[in-house]
Amino acid sequence: MNQPIPTVTLGERLRLRRQGTRVDFLLAVPRRHGPIARMSLWGGLVQSQLVTDPALAHAVLVEHSDAFMKGLGLSYFMRPLLGDGLLSSEGDFHRRQRRMLAPSFMPKRLADYATTIAGRSEEAQRALRDGASVDVNAVMMRLTLEIVGATLFGAEVGAEAEEVHGALSDAMEQMSRVLRSVIPIPPTWPTPGNRRGLRAVARLDRVVYGLIEERRRSGVERNDFLSMLLAARDEAGGQMTDRQVRDEAMTIFLAGHETTANALTWTFYLLARNPAVRERLERELDAHLGGRTPTLADLAKLPYAMMVFKESMRLYPPAYVVARRALRDVEVAGRHIPKGHLVVINIIGMHHDPALFRDPERFDPERFTPEAEKALPKNAFLPFGAGPRVCIGNHFALMEGHLALATLAQRVRFERSPSAPPAEMEPLVTLRPKGGMPMTVQRRAIEA
Ligand code: HEM
Repeated sequence: MNQPIPTVTLGERLRLRRQGTRVDFLLAVPRRHGPIARMSLWGGLVQSQLVTDPALAHAVLVEHSDAFMKGLGLSYFMRPLLGDGLLSSEGDFHRRQRRMLAPSFMPKRLADYATTIAGRSEEAQRALRDGASVDVNAVMMRLTLEIVGATLFGAEVGAEAEEVHGALSDAMEQMSRVLRSVIPIPPTWPTPGNRRGLRAVARLDRVVYGLIEERRRSGVERNDFLSMLLAARDEAGGQMTDRQVRDEAMTIFLAGHETTANALTWTFYLLARNPAVRERLERELDAHLGGRTPTLADLAKLPYAMMVFKESMRLYPPAYVVARRALRDVEVAGRHIPKGHLVVINIIGMHHDPALFRDPERFDPERFTPEAEKALPKNAFLPFGAGPRVCIGNHFALMEGHLALATLAQRVRFERSPSAPPAEMEPLVTLRPKGGMPMTVQRRAIEA
């Protein structure tokens, strides 16, 4: 039997939006209306359902995944940048690509990347002077961009890193601006902003196609994503065109850095506000590493660092919502979702729901001991999504976060001025801290 879905009226939306940020809105709607609420967006052009419930999220993302496709944000507005890469492609083509890329993300391949991640993190911490004021978000963005650049393209991208960084930021900035506007302008319209975005994409293309061409010509195989993309074969032995390799590389580049950078930024913010947690983490790092650069093998001995990282992603999930569009009328756990409706899975809303996490606003890494994590309600913690489109980089991201946190936290603390107000979340494509994360570096002596 279908249950009626409560509606968030435009007046209520405007009132709630005036009272707080978009994140406050995502937290307030389920408290007022329950696990599913309907609202119209973009002046009534789009009807949407906000879903804040693990069982309903599972029904949409896993059980009935074939009845949905991605929202327009990725598949249309980000197309100039991402093309038909894994984030934005659909149907049989997505399934083929996902199968072709899966071996590159297998845990055994990840070992190849661990040295790069730890090495780049050491360089990043060495560059931090005692007493310096830094924007921790900018530091983490640069670090994760370097990591994804090096794991994708090997050392070759070194010389062009600045160009790639600038062009990617410009393209992202433009696309976020479009997605933030009340009525988004199609990317094909020749507005000054769109032109700027397309110019940035053209700069990126020049670098990426150059790297692909060089690698095909030299025939040298390396331990990086680019070599794996070029070598990948589908079941019929077919390989990817240059255009497809470019789309997948750009997708990995984009999907693989801002999310992890934000997760690390919020982690250091939470550590500064919770000195007891920070001290416990430092004791773990000092006792096991004693100043050494961590390796992949060390991670099993640093469980608290992983608990801290996961609890940070619970409070501040970098991908705070995921969206789907219904391809047909569909019944989801007793609710009727009409064809064309947008379903927004409210990941941040679930992560802050007191029915799923006791005292949800408290930063408590103990929620992620292996036993406690197993006992969490199924699908209540969804930082990487679920189902056939779950983040393909989730093992990579967890390893990267774990290694970077261990490497940095054993050498530096980031302190926040006691007079600084709590950091505000800015939900753009990912969950950034509004205005960056200004903090002061304090270098640590390692306890023997
Ligand atoms: C903390 C870091 C990360 C978070 C929170 C995160 C989160 C997510 C989420 C929620 C999705 C699913 C989106 C949806 O269902 O609509 C996703 C997809 C994806 N992620 Fe991640 N991600 C992270 C890091 C990475 C990294 C490091 C890579 C690559 C190296 C990556 C590559 C991808 C790709 C390619 C997809 C598309 C998968 C598909 O649709 O088949 N992500 N990510």
